[in-house]
Amino acid sequence: MVGTARRCAECAVACWMQIAGLDLPVHLLSLSTGNSFMPIAIVTGSGGLIGSESVRYFAQQGFDVIGLDNDMRAQFFGPEATTGPTTDQLSRDLGSTFRSLAVDIRDEQAVRDVFSSNSSRIELIVHAAAQPSHDWAASDPQTDFTVNANGTLNLLQAARDFTPDATFVFTSTNKVYGDRPNFLPLDELETRWELPTDHEWYGGVDLTMPIDLCTHSLFGVSKAAADLLVQEYGRYFDMPTVCFRGGCLTGPQHAGAQLHGFLAYLMKCTVSGDPYTVFGYKGKQVRDNIHAHDVVRAFHEFHRAPSAGAVYNLGGGRDSNVSMLEAIALCEQITGRSLEYTLSDQARIGDHMWWVSDLGAFKADYPDWELTFGIEDVLRDIHDFNSERWLAETAAR
Ligand SMILES: NC(=O)c1ccc[n+]([C@@H]2O[C@H](COP(=O)([O-])OP(=O)(O)OC[C@H]3O[C@@H](n4cnc5c(N)ncnc54)[C@H](O)[C@@H]3O)[C@@H](O)[C@H]2O)c1
Repeated sequence: MVGTARRCAECAVACWMQIAGLDLPVHLLSLSTGNSFMPIAIVTGSGGLIGSESVRYFAQQGFDVIGLDNDMRAQFFGPEATTGPTTDQLSRDLGSTFRSLAVDIRDEQAVRDVFSSNSSRIELIVHAAAQPSHDWAASDPQTDFTVNANGTLNLLQAARDFTPDATFVFTSTNKVYGDRPNFLPLDELETRWELPTDHEWYGGVDLTMPIDLCTHSLFGVSKAAADLLVQEYGRYFDMPTVCFRGGCLTGPQHAGAQLHGFLAYLMKCTVSGDPYTVFGYKGKQVRDNIHAHDVVRAFHEFHRAPSAGAVYNLGGGRDSNVSMLEAIALCEQITGRSLEYTLSDQARIGDHMWWVSDLGAFKADYPDWELTFGIEDVLRDIHDFNSERWLAETAAR
């Protein structure tokens, strides 16, 4: 064995060993050559909302899970948005089943090392690491694009080279449709914008909505690039890849911040008494919301019977959607407190006035899957899980 001088992303020291011509990080050897013969799931963004839910879920399903997360969310949205505590909690709860690596997905070599040193056991990749905000992307397009697009390319190519048969799940977004949903003939109702009930997409927008010739925001563009890459690796290289174009994905683990994670942040402000600003559309913009648990159950269904280059819209659909004004009323009802909010005229560029996902295509291919959380369940879950901590943090200020 010959140690090399390169620095390991997790250990911050030169922990690489050369074995049989391959560079292997020492801290991964226990996972790659240990006693376990369990399949491995790689989860990127493992400290985030969808990543952490995936880690717990697939660990329970008998996978050893390797998480890749460098806590870049704290860099994007400030220290209050750190996912470090979630990662620590996962490590405590799951023990040797879960290994968290502070790998930056932009670091091609570090990504390849993880795949090459575990290639015989990797069966599933859940790619949920991202820069997730429109506004942040505009402030630093280079970082946004390299994380969302190049990072995805690094993972796809590592999967192609080392584990081409592993299922590759990508958390895409409905923002690939840009602001095209805003061209729909929406009616203004008392608390929401809404499609006429006889419109073909009243039940939800399907994949026939075009994705170009509209404004996306730079975030929408970097995610659309990644979405197309994931489809292309599926179709061109016949790999089992899928894009789930998410509506609002939410749940109690969302480290809600003003620029991302609106339901969690809204509930946090209602509990803490902090002011909230609603951007544009008179607060009547409609989002469909899906609990992270239902999202990850969809990942699992796909993994059980994958296809190449699949794409689905995935959100709360017609059964679980809410406008900002309706969400505020629900938060106030659940907490028994009123929210201090202002309506700004300024809508966020690329933001949707109305979005409801059509879930028909996924349900047709995977009939055992259905939503288990409605909008009120989601909000109660966010509240019950976090309110004590939020109140303590407010008291300590
Ligand atoms: N939450 C939503 O409403 C929503 C909607 C549609 C699509 N999505 C997509 O789902 C995915 C997961 O979203 P989320 O809400 O869980 O986001 P999140 O911000 O909670 O989690 C993302 C995680 O990725 C990590 N990360 C960021 N850059 C990284 C990098 N360069 N290397 C390694 N890790 C990095 C962050 O630290 C964070 O822990 C994203 O791709 C997002 O675009 C989310």
